Amino acid sequence: MAARVYVTRPIFDQAVERLKREAHLEINSDERVLSPSELVSHLREADGAVTLLTDIINREVLEACPGLKVVANFAVGFNNVDINAATELGVIVTNTPGVLTETTADFAWTLLMAAARRVVEADKFARAGKFKAWGPKMFLGHDVYGKTLGLVGLGRIGQAVARRASGFNMKVVFYDAEPIPDEIIQELRVTRVPLDELLRTSDFISLHVPLLAETRHLMNDRTFAMMKPTCVVVNTSRGPVVDEKALVRALKNGKIAAAGLDVFEREPEIEPELLDMDSVVIAPHIASASHETRLKMCMMATENLLAVLKGNRPPNFVNPEVWDKRR
Ligand code: DGY
Repeated sequence: MAARVYVTRPIFDQAVERLKREAHLEINSDERVLSPSELVSHLREADGAVTLLTDIINREVLEACPGLKVVANFAVGFNNVDINAATELGVIVTNTPGVLTETTADFAWTLLMAAARRVVEADKFARAGKFKAWGPKMFLGHDVYGKTLGLVGLGRIGQAVARRASGFNMKVVFYDAEPIPDEIIQELRVTRVPLDELLRTSDFISLHVPLLAETRHLMNDRTFAMMKPTCVVVNTSRGPVVDEKALVRALKNGKIAAAGLDVFEREPEIEPELLDMDSVVIAPHIASASHETRLKMCMMATENLLAVLKGNRPPNFVNPEVWDKRR
């Protein structure tokens, strides 16, 4: 009998066709996030699921779906899945690393440049018909060229952001709790520094850490207070890495100059005060949203799922330790 697959939101046609050829497929056709109990009602009978980062796959969901063998997350991040519970219960979890690295790095730069040069604010001004004459002090922003970029996290995306910085003749410093191979540090011409030094010396700070207990609210009142008053902070990682209320205070009190945000602490909710601030550039979690990249992510999630359903190890295995006790 064909394996049963549930896809939690509409995805690309190519993936749907591929899945239909190999499995009995059911898709949530609504552009709506399903609650954990709705997920259970669909996943109870499923062998595999393609999930999005908005789906809460917690212990209760996994326990209530004893036939579920694989959760193929359509994202590199997997903080929406309780990995410990999945591993304990024998459920394979996969993600989509690599294919979104360059696109996400491009977007971190998009936010950095837009926030530094006040592009959104200026756009609104011009559209409102307020541009009456060129002015020497109109929309002054901050130079990027030749400045110091601080990368919090030097994984794949952090490295791709660093590579782009050489075109801007920037000094790049980084902080990472994990060891980074010397060849990479030399190739990128970056310098490892303690976090506090990065915070004190950087003109731009871009966040590239996964959401873990140790990184939750890594940017908080204390860390914002150490930054330069001209600093621009960019977040394309996960919202809760930044304490949003502390960010509002830092911007209001002139502790930092601006922020570029693609992710939010209580996504899709956004701290209302941020919405009123011209110094903040806001995007709705679209850093990987290019036609090419999202299709690649979707196909990668599909292939991960199908590999498991055919009895093979998936190419992008988040919890390989589960293999010997998989469902
Ligand atoms: C991810 O993949 O984790 C991003 O946040 C969305 O592309």
